[in-house]
Amino acid sequence: MKVLYAVSEAKPFIASGGLADVAGSLPVALRQRLIGARIVMPLYEGIPQKFRDEMKFITHITIPVAWRRQYCGIFEMKYNGVICYFLDNQYYFKRQGIYGHYDDAERFAFFSRAVLEIIPYIDFKPDIINCNDWQTALVPVYYSKYYANAPGFENIKTVFTIHNIQYQGKYGRELLADVVGIGEDGASLLEYDGCVNFMKGAIECANAITTVSPTYAQEILDPYYSHGLDPILRERSWKLHGILNGIDTKSNDPAADPALPVNFSADDIAGKAECKAALQKEMGLPERPDVPLIGMVSRLVSHKGFDLVKRVLDELLDTTDVQVVVLGSGEWQYETFFTECAARHPDKLAVKLGFVPALASRIYGGSDIFLMPSQSEPCGLSQMFALRYGSVPIVRATGGLRDSVFDSGAGEGNGFVFENYNAHDMLHAIRRAVEGYADHEGWAVLRDRAMRCDYSWGRSANEYIKLYKELLKG
Ligand code: GLC
Repeated sequence: MKVLYAVSEAKPFIASGGLADVAGSLPVALRQRLIGARIVMPLYEGIPQKFRDEMKFITHITIPVAWRRQYCGIFEMKYNGVICYFLDNQYYFKRQGIYGHYDDAERFAFFSRAVLEIIPYIDFKPDIINCNDWQTALVPVYYSKYYANAPGFENIKTVFTIHNIQYQGKYGRELLADVVGIGEDGASLLEYDGCVNFMKGAIECANAITTVSPTYAQEILDPYYSHGLDPILRERSWKLHGILNGIDTKSNDPAADPALPVNFSADDIAGKAECKAALQKEMGLPERPDVPLIGMVSRLVSHKGFDLVKRVLDELLDTTDVQVVVLGSGEWQYETFFTECAARHPDKLAVKLGFVPALASRIYGGSDIFLMPSQSEPCGLSQMFALRYGSVPIVRATGGLRDSVFDSGAGEGNGFVFENYNAHDMLHAIRRAVEGYADHEGWAVLRDRAMRCDYSWGRSANEYIKLYKELLKG
């Protein structure tokens, strides 16, 4: 079986979020299970030279983007055993940043069309094209409209994976003919709520839709979570599947992570205390081994739960002997809140604004507790990293958090869970964790159980393979 994984970012080449982690590790896991998986992504300006030096130029072709004819260079390199195709067009991709340009619709219409156009020029005719999020949502639309019966393109099945339903690729209707290149006869595929909606097109046209956890697959059928797409998803729920993401356990391993001052593992936990002391020092907090240290690594946006944190953080710090370390950047209101709150509680709260991957590792490794109170979370990977690094997660029961963290109140479990999106429910869960921490022996057992949870790709990769096989039978 041959799977082409079409994606707008992938580790280690370029990353803005969890999508890149998945794209950097799922195809590898598929290959290890003897599936011919390859990746295709844009050749962004931000991809480091050391990777470019390894790329081989295959050829260049011309891609239709509505009435335009655009250059596309095809480059290839192998990483971790997986062949990756990089599609070059400097007009679209030689820019700062990955997304957020005025013409993103056109940039990703180009890329999606190119994913199909390159097929005759690479030695790989896919059985499955697995697309991801709105940036590649036009692939199933173009395939069903223009390629399904074209020689050399027959019998390809398309899978569309939703990593986050909030970002749909919604544009004015006037883009339909001028940018997307779909005429009035195909308008109904993409039209939604008076707009052109790329994700809606993929939901219509893909042979299967997946999302990144079983709970999120249920949640997006509900208006509270669906950002408007629940009616269309309910109609298509027969082809919707929830498959929990895994993590790359090799590059996220406390026993080998070079970012940690000392390595450790569940079998040899001693180094964790040193990591905690080093983190306290690095962040300018008192070096106290006995105080529970709570970590947060996240984009500072409200749906990650920061409105709850903002509401009760002073109360927590005023009344409880804890330390809190926050790493992230995002909305101005949260950046200023944390900066000011840290000034009010210099011995208890330390904040680093920005995205520093090595510090993220040191927070997973050095903290005792990891707080992730998301309002919605399609899967979430940070809680899986935290578990692996022995930082016991406190989560709200939503999406992949519900599917990977289980409350330890009843004895078993690997963390602390609260149900309602409510600041004092979160505070209560934090207090339960802090009390649990005070019982040293009990905590060691809980932490050990957390560290031994297996969220590697094994099971999930097999679920993808099962789905692919079913599609090829049908
Ligand atoms: C998105 C989601 C996150 C998920 C990731 C990878 O970033 O917000 O929950 O873990 O995609 O699927």
